[in-house]
Amino acid sequence: MVATIRQMGVRDKLRAELARQLGRPEGIRGRFVARGLNRGNRGTVAAAVDATGAEPGQTAADIGFGGGVGLPLLLARVLPGGHVRAVDLSETMLDRAQRMYREETLAGSLTLHAGSITALPLSENSLDAAITVNTIYFVADLGSAFTELTRVLRPSGRVVVGLGDPVAMAKLPFTSYGFNLRPVDEVIASLTKAGLTCVGHHRVGAKDEAYHLLVATKAPS
Ligand SMILES: C[S@@+](CC[C@H](N)C(=O)[O-])C[C@H]1O[C@@H](n2cnc3c(N)ncnc32)[C@H](O)[C@@H]1O
Repeated sequence: MVATIRQMGVRDKLRAELARQLGRPEGIRGRFVARGLNRGNRGTVAAAVDATGAEPGQTAADIGFGGGVGLPLLLARVLPGGHVRAVDLSETMLDRAQRMYREETLAGSLTLHAGSITALPLSENSLDAAITVNTIYFVADLGSAFTELTRVLRPSGRVVVGLGDPVAMAKLPFTSYGFNLRPVDEVIASLTKAGLTCVGHHRVGAKDEAYHLLVATKAPS
């Protein structure tokens, strides 16, 4: 009985640590998590990048880029002549991206920014395209996040919000440790309230667990 309680304690701690690392990967563990994120989320992030429709010469952003799998994909769309801005809260992810994309940062086609989606370190009307994939679970104030996206998007800009299906995600053993799992309709309503219009809702992946990609543009003012 004591051993079972002890085992439960260890299991809970591991799950809580995984949830914490997914929300803000830090240190050596964070670097492992980054590799796992890149492997597991490549397809979804690639679909999000495609859904932006970003073109050469434009400015695009990946907000909460994590392991950075989206950065070369965005660069491939906006170069030549364009620019990618990568925003994340995690110093470890920023440091990792700095090392991995040294050439691109030195060439001036990629800029890394430390910051939060709720207070973006970006100028208003500065982005043609943005993706934020698997980030909103870690944001308590979704209204502020989406208001910020509205502020930084150009009038013709397009943002793609990617999220796992909330019902499927609720079954994962670590999401009860602090993830904000919201019904997709609630996320769409929040986009609308922040001044964005959801113009597309795509699914990526197998039926039940298929990811949701919400494509939004600035509502005409
Ligand atoms: C689960 S990872 C997803 C990474 C990547 N987008 C993907 O799908 O593989 C979440 C990332 O968002 C970052 N993050 C969490 N909260 C954030 C916030 N408020 N603003 C910006 N980034 C945030 C974390 O540091 C982490 O790198």
